[in-house]
Amino acid sequence: MEIKSAEFVISSPMVSMCPKDSKPEYAFIGRSNVGKSSLINMLCCNKKLAKTSATPGKTLLINHFIINKNWYLVDLPGYGFAKRSKKEIARLEQMINGYILQREQLVNVFVLVDVRLEAQKIDLDFINWLGNSSIPFAIVFTKADKLGPVKTQANVEMYKKKLSETWEELPPIFVTSSEKRQGRDELLSYIDSINKE
Ligand code: GTP
Ligand code: MG
Repeated sequence: MEIKSAEFVISSPMVSMCPKDSKPEYAFIGRSNVGKSSLINMLCCNKKLAKTSATPGKTLLINHFIINKNWYLVDLPGYGFAKRSKKEIARLEQMINGYILQREQLVNVFVLVDVRLEAQKIDLDFINWLGNSSIPFAIVFTKADKLGPVKTQANVEMYKKKLSETWEELPPIFVTSSEKRQGRDELLSYIDSINKE
């Protein structure tokens, strides 16, 4: 699939304020700083589309980007926000959970996981919550350029093994690097395939 246009539409503080539009949406979630906004920019070949930062907690609202005037990529705030008040954490959790559980246009959630790290409880809890809530999702490993291909593959296999302890069927899994544009074709083909279902 080709991305011919990608435009920022709106930042919303809650699901009820998201665009009143029935076009399909694909959302990106994961721990703060995992590379959600960078991945959206990589997919759209526009480094300035979604705001990124080396400091965690850059994205704090639900951001809609319209692609080919036909469907949306949605950049969500990260979870696991350290250095925030309890009230702020609760507000962000409510925003994320509300969007994921209530947004009817949401076709698929991409859960981003840093390929360098061992399986983290916070990610496994989130993945299990999605599975138990019957939300369609895929796992996207990020920052593969920071590890060699052998170590990357070994970490992905370890992650699969960990998931198999809980789930009989594994979700679709992608390995990406926003730096090297790795995984772009695979992700866009996947979006295309579920868009047509
Ligand atoms: P929040 O909005 O704060 O939740 O973060 P985010 O998940 O949107 O992360 P963001 O895209 O802002 O990236 C965080 C940092 O990781 C930035 O410094 C990026 O340049 C870096 N980064 C993201 N993806 C990659 C990647 O594939 N490779 C490398 N080497 N760095 C990456
Ligand atoms: Mg972000």
